[in-house]
Amino acid sequence: MTVPFLLAPMAELSHRPLRELIEGFSGPGSGCDEYFTEMISAGPLLGGGPFESWYMDAGPCPERVVYQLVGSDPEQIVRAAILLDSRECLGIDINMGCAAPAIRRTGAGVAWMASIDKAGSLIARVRQVVKKRLSVKLRIGFEDDFDYLLNFCRRLEGEGVELVTLHPRTAGEKFKRSPRWDYVTALRRELHIPVAGNGDIASAADLLHRADMGGPVMVGRAAVRHPWIFAQARSAQAQGMALGARIDLEETALRFLELLTRYQPPEFHISRALRFFNYFCDNLKWAHYVKTLLNREKTPGGIERALRGYFGEHPEERYTKY
Ligand SMILES: Cc1cc2nc3c(=O)[nH]c(=O)nc-3n(C[C@H](O)[C@H](O)[C@H](O)COP(=O)(O)O)c2cc1C
Repeated sequence: MTVPFLLAPMAELSHRPLRELIEGFSGPGSGCDEYFTEMISAGPLLGGGPFESWYMDAGPCPERVVYQLVGSDPEQIVRAAILLDSRECLGIDINMGCAAPAIRRTGAGVAWMASIDKAGSLIARVRQVVKKRLSVKLRIGFEDDFDYLLNFCRRLEGEGVELVTLHPRTAGEKFKRSPRWDYVTALRRELHIPVAGNGDIASAADLLHRADMGGPVMVGRAAVRHPWIFAQARSAQAQGMALGARIDLEETALRFLELLTRYQPPEFHISRALRFFNYFCDNLKWAHYVKTLLNREKTPGGIERALRGYFGEHPEERYTKY
């Protein structure tokens, strides 16, 4: 059974240029099945902020895009959900997992996990207005308490949520602590809806290993480091082994820059380029050095020159195999 592969919502990373890049490695139906967007704040979206049209750009495959909403005010979340649901997309996801202090403090993200009743009432209201697939992304909660997580998810399921994604760490845990994938398995056993698992997948082999557990799998940072990861895993599934395709890292890096300037507003170019290359440069032997070079640059043109200069000096770094 092939299980769906999902791109994780990641602020400043899960946008159209990354989707275009990932799609470029994939044949039809052979790459990433669902693209979650970076979280979109309900309030600014409704206020018609200057950048909201960029956040809502679901290209190049809107039918596989899931808009992720973040917010603390139920009224705003409901109205924002109506707005996004009216666009071409696969579904709407509510962020109940983000543990960044700036989000949590406002009562958004993982703060929703503090009260089953509040979260349940929010979902009941959102369910009434969302016609497309409704999903929730969450963590274990504030404590390492599986029973609480299960009750929380049962309530979501009862209110009409059709998919949950579990990033199995508690609200206070950073990436250092290993994710508890056994909680994903246990939750799948108890719920009637699909449970996507997410956390620390580093390679196509890891992705296939998690896919063998029998449910949707979501990949975040590794899909920025290796935008070919979904295509690689699918071809391995189809051929029964990993293909020895050659990836041109210089060409991939420059293609990303080109997509970024084509599909994002100038105000976003530098911050988003640096976010992306912070992960992508891990493919290179002198990653730290390249990141330092890029961090000095103030324009996409400067970043392009720095990348070309690096690959010019280190031609042996240009190709990687998967
Ligand atoms: C830079 C960055 C931004 C993120 N932004 C979001 C977000 O907007 N919404 C969300 O639900 N999770 C967000 N996350 C969490 C990821 O979706 C994912 O749960 C986490 O990175 C673990 O998956 P991974 O190990 O495959 O990266 C973010 C993570 C990172 C590293």
